[in-house]
Amino acid sequence: MQGLAERYPVALITGASAGLGLATARMLLEQGVQVIGLSRNAGVLEEHPDYTHISCDLSDLADVERVCSELWQQYPQLNLVINNAGYGILSELDNLPPAAIKSQYAVLLMAPSLLARAAVAQFKSKGEGCLVNVASLATELPLPLMPIYNASKSGLSALSQSLQLDLFDMPNCRVIDFRPGDFNTQFAHNMQGEVSWNGINLRKVMDQHHASAPDASVAVQALQRALSGRRSGIVRVGSFFQARIAPLGRFLPWRLLMRLICQYYKR
Ligand SMILES: NC(=O)c1ccc[n+]([C@@H]2O[C@H](COP(=O)([O-])OP(=O)(O)OC[C@H]3O[C@@H](n4cnc5c(N)ncnc54)[C@H](OP(=O)(O)O)[C@@H]3O)[C@@H](O)[C@H]2O)c1
Repeated sequence: MQGLAERYPVALITGASAGLGLATARMLLEQGVQVIGLSRNAGVLEEHPDYTHISCDLSDLADVERVCSELWQQYPQLNLVINNAGYGILSELDNLPPAAIKSQYAVLLMAPSLLARAAVAQFKSKGEGCLVNVASLATELPLPLMPIYNASKSGLSALSQSLQLDLFDMPNCRVIDFRPGDFNTQFAHNMQGEVSWNGINLRKVMDQHHASAPDASVAVQALQRALSGRRSGIVRVGSFFQARIAPLGRFLPWRLLMRLICQYYKR
């Protein structure tokens, strides 16, 4: 079987300085892939000979466009792009300043769309390549008080599926809609905002959920399997409950589903 480095000589991953992105970058480097990590902070991989850091704040869309226009000139063999960077804000929509809404959409949806646009153009001209969009279980089941996060992740999954349709007749151009449940990274800790929801200290509950969630290595193994495969598709990953049972919630009557989500955060 072809190794990942033979299939993907060069990979770009956003948010490679921490969490799921860092664990994925490490896996790719171990496989012999040359990795370009894009984030605001350089992170711990900077010393690795096959790792290059691009300093970029994804909320600066003009800078993202500049990066897109230069990437393939510098790295013509780049054929794996992973849109992974992200962050959460806990707030009711009506309490979010407009600038925070724009910034979160920029990082979670606009910048990934610009990178996807550039990647797909390259994949089409070369007849091969793989785009991974790291969405979330929130695509299917909304997280409380994370309206822009939920909307962005649903939008990102819709983008993935639109591209899967566009590329349906090009089987070597793949798009993976990657939907993690909770993982024990810095995500919850980095979350902005502190609010009470239905009398619950949501921040505390989310911290607890993430602290007892699987390690990033579980997500990376699932992504490695998907990258080794030949198909586009949706990959759900997380605890058995979040990856297998919870997504079935979309088939429940709306009122029951909303009640169950409320119950889940009261545990
Ligand atoms: N952990 C979970 O439970 C979970 C569940 C579902 C989905 N996800 C998704 O998985 C992805 C990775 O999350 P994680 O858990 O690994 O979070 P994390 O540990 O907080 O890491 C987030 C990464 O995103 C980067 N980032 C954040 N804002 C950025 C910006 N403005 N510009 C450039 N890079 C930025 C950070 O780098 P810098 O700070 O250096 O810029 C960091 O490398 C996110 O899209 C998240 O929504 C996570």
